[in-house]
Amino acid sequence: MTRHQLWGGGFSEGPSEVLRAFNDSYSFDRELFAEDVAGSLAWIESLRECGVLTAREQKELTRHLSAIAAEGAPAVASEEDVHSFVEARLFERAGPLAGKLHTGRSRNDQVATDFRLYLRGALDELLSDILSLAEAMASRARAEAATPMPGYTHLKRAEPVTAGHWLLAYVQMLLRDASRIDGARERGNECPLGAGALSGTPLAIDREGLARRLGFARASANSLDAVSDRDLAADYLYSATLLLVHLSRFAEDVIFFVTDECGFIRLPDALATGSSRMPHKKNPDLLELVRGHAGRALGDLTGFVAILKGLPLAYDKDLQLDKEPVFRVRRTLRAALPALSALVATLEFDRDRMRAAASTDRMLTTSLADAIAARGVPFREAHEIAGRRLAEAEKAGRTLKEMGPGEGVLAEDLASLTVERALSVRRSRGGTAPSEVKKAARGALSEIAKLRRKKS
Ligand code: ARG
Repeated sequence: MTRHQLWGGGFSEGPSEVLRAFNDSYSFDRELFAEDVAGSLAWIESLRECGVLTAREQKELTRHLSAIAAEGAPAVASEEDVHSFVEARLFERAGPLAGKLHTGRSRNDQVATDFRLYLRGALDELLSDILSLAEAMASRARAEAATPMPGYTHLKRAEPVTAGHWLLAYVQMLLRDASRIDGARERGNECPLGAGALSGTPLAIDREGLARRLGFARASANSLDAVSDRDLAADYLYSATLLLVHLSRFAEDVIFFVTDECGFIRLPDALATGSSRMPHKKNPDLLELVRGHAGRALGDLTGFVAILKGLPLAYDKDLQLDKEPVFRVRRTLRAALPALSALVATLEFDRDRMRAAASTDRMLTTSLADAIAARGVPFREAHEIAGRRLAEAEKAGRTLKEMGPGEGVLAEDLASLTVERALSVRRSRGGTAPSEVKKAARGALSEIAKLRRKKS
């Protein structure tokens, strides 16, 4: 295969096989193909505006670039990178006129622009998928606003909560993720094209116009920064990693709740996996993969930020390694988020088991202490009394109610020991009372709808 190369005039020989094998990036940066063509289409318009191209030449190049875009980028090509690939195809179609495309431009501002365009798409996609998952969670939360389940600290049963409340905790995390992504998109909404190799371009390019043409809010302010800045990719990777950390915690909760030991949640067969050996098994592979991917994303984020550290201005080839971590995480999330949305929409709660687990004496001992304290007993003492009474009851193999009043516990304290009451009194803002949870679910759903509208 012949190889179209964007440099070499001053070289006495072409790149060696070993250099190519290490240096070439086409195998992965072809993922930027669509963005690369879009950037070139916008650039040739600027070239026409400042007189490098005639209107006829621009039209011809536009026609050829559009045809190239429609053909797509094959998995294998002989060119060094996607930029060389597009230019090579343009030469095949347009002949020497293709040689004007790169006037005043460098691959440094070109790849920075391609990557930003790509990241913008990745951020939009991510935001939309996050909102879908948040919506699935918030609607299930509304339906389960009064469904009791045990709440945990230290993975020890602590106090009752509602299933809706548990789900809405994750909705809050997702809403913060959504706002992080929104912020990243806004900060990164600038166009590096026109920064040249590092110092700007001698052409009288209207950079603000060019930025708007590519859908950016503004042109980047400093050419050295423009070609070396990868903050948007870092923001993306961090936002994606933190999102995956949240999803991983959700996954871990659900994995625990579907264990035979808990049995609070059943996964639908369509979203569970089997064992090749044990016919009875239904496994939560989907959730375990989410948990695993969170770890891998964290590694990708760390590796990426480490690449940036200590890079001298402006462009350095280290920056070629910026893309794969982003591509990888995007692929993961693109598959994981819809799968999780489906899981959230269809998982089944075993309400009887959850209620039973949330209604034991242990789960209500804090409420007993609260009831004693409500009579004016200092809470420290009430805590002692309730703790002692529970220990006595457990030793005697009886329930608190069977033990009856005594040792500082009055009949009226025991009367109120129900899971419904324990839940309904926790109606401080953000608490687990069903009335609060219903309100919070409604609030989350309207927040999600608002974010969707803002996006479109
Ligand atoms: N493949 C390169 C990258 O992704 C394109 C930019 C090359 N620029 C250069 N000065 N060698 O970073």
